Amino acid sequence: MQAVILAGGTGSRLWPLSRQHYPKQFLTLDGSQASLLQQCLQRAAQLCHRPALLIGQDEHRFLLAQQLQESGLEGQIILEPEGRNTAASLTLAALACTENGAADELLLVLPADQRIRPIEALAKAVDSATSAAHEGAFCVFGLPPCRPETGYGYILAQTDGRVERFVEKPDVDTAAELISAGALWNSGLLLCRADRWLNAVQQCQPALHDACRRAWQQKQRDLDFIRVQPDAFRQSPSISIDYAVLEHESHRHCTRLDADWQDLGSWEALAKLHDHQSDERGCLKLGDTLLEGCADTLVFGDKRLIAGVGLDRLLVVDTPDALLLANRDHMDRLAPLLQRLNDQQ
Ligand code: GDD
Ligand code: MG
Repeated sequence: MQAVILAGGTGSRLWPLSRQHYPKQFLTLDGSQASLLQQCLQRAAQLCHRPALLIGQDEHRFLLAQQLQESGLEGQIILEPEGRNTAASLTLAALACTENGAADELLLVLPADQRIRPIEALAKAVDSATSAAHEGAFCVFGLPPCRPETGYGYILAQTDGRVERFVEKPDVDTAAELISAGALWNSGLLLCRADRWLNAVQQCQPALHDACRRAWQQKQRDLDFIRVQPDAFRQSPSISIDYAVLEHESHRHCTRLDADWQDLGSWEALAKLHDHQSDERGCLKLGDTLLEGCADTLVFGDKRLIAGVGLDRLLVVDTPDALLLANRDHMDRLAPLLQRLNDQQ
């Protein structure tokens, strides 16, 4: 089994802590010693015997190399000139595997932005999906949902694991309907054969397949990195694994993952991790923070004192060079705000 670590996202929903030049997967967000990427590398080493393939952005090459080296584990870093979303990344991994003479190898796709405990629970789920994956199924892993989250994919599966419907990032009403119909959250982990992925992507996304193949054929290797050909890779459509293939494929299998799982992708997710530190009025105060008469307010402080009076459902994130103040019920507006910020720079 070959681990494929997807580490090229920008983590924009965690701005201003997660930045374009230093995204969340390189941060230690959960109070542990290792960054999210290093935790993922450890997971990969525990589950797969081959050195992991780490797919990330050229801009982050030194972070990737440094964190890999610090982890003491082996891995091959493949660099994309810029992000083209996850379907292109997985296609590069499948091409790398094929080139190594392992076209029918199982690829275990591990997003680098997650926290999963304990490893035994994940190992058990992966193990029980292996035979379906060998037979050519796209094996996804589902978790019992706790809220109608719109940032995840949903899986409706039969009791034998066959997936009936796969819905990526529904609106809140559809998410609630899916939950009452018994749907699970999609963990974002995937197990499938390399050749199966390449065939499916060639069929569903031929332009993506061709661009990645050309970019891979003209790649450059040096001591630490494989760099795909930038111009060819930039021709690839930017689309996720889920939209590109999973929603269209019929041979999909779902395994239930009974683990403590979090995609540390948003401020709400991070707040949940610190739930036990919240006070009786639902306020979370990290750092040097003083609140008076506040409710359901989250403060992620940094170096200076933060004081608040009469705040309700406010999110405050302080960093040395940027301060975010947001209404917790309007977090969907963060993306357009960051777009405007990018346009100004
Ligand atoms: N190499 C590379 N290149 N990696 C990327 C790129 C890219 O262009 N874009 C994203 N990634 C990495 C991210 O760093 C992350 O580790 C992983 O791929 C998944 O991308 P996200 O952008 O975090 O996806 P998501 O969280 O919105 O949605 C996916 O995961 C959810 C669970 O965490 C989907 O699979 C959902 O269905 C799922 O519920
Ligand atoms: Mg994510």
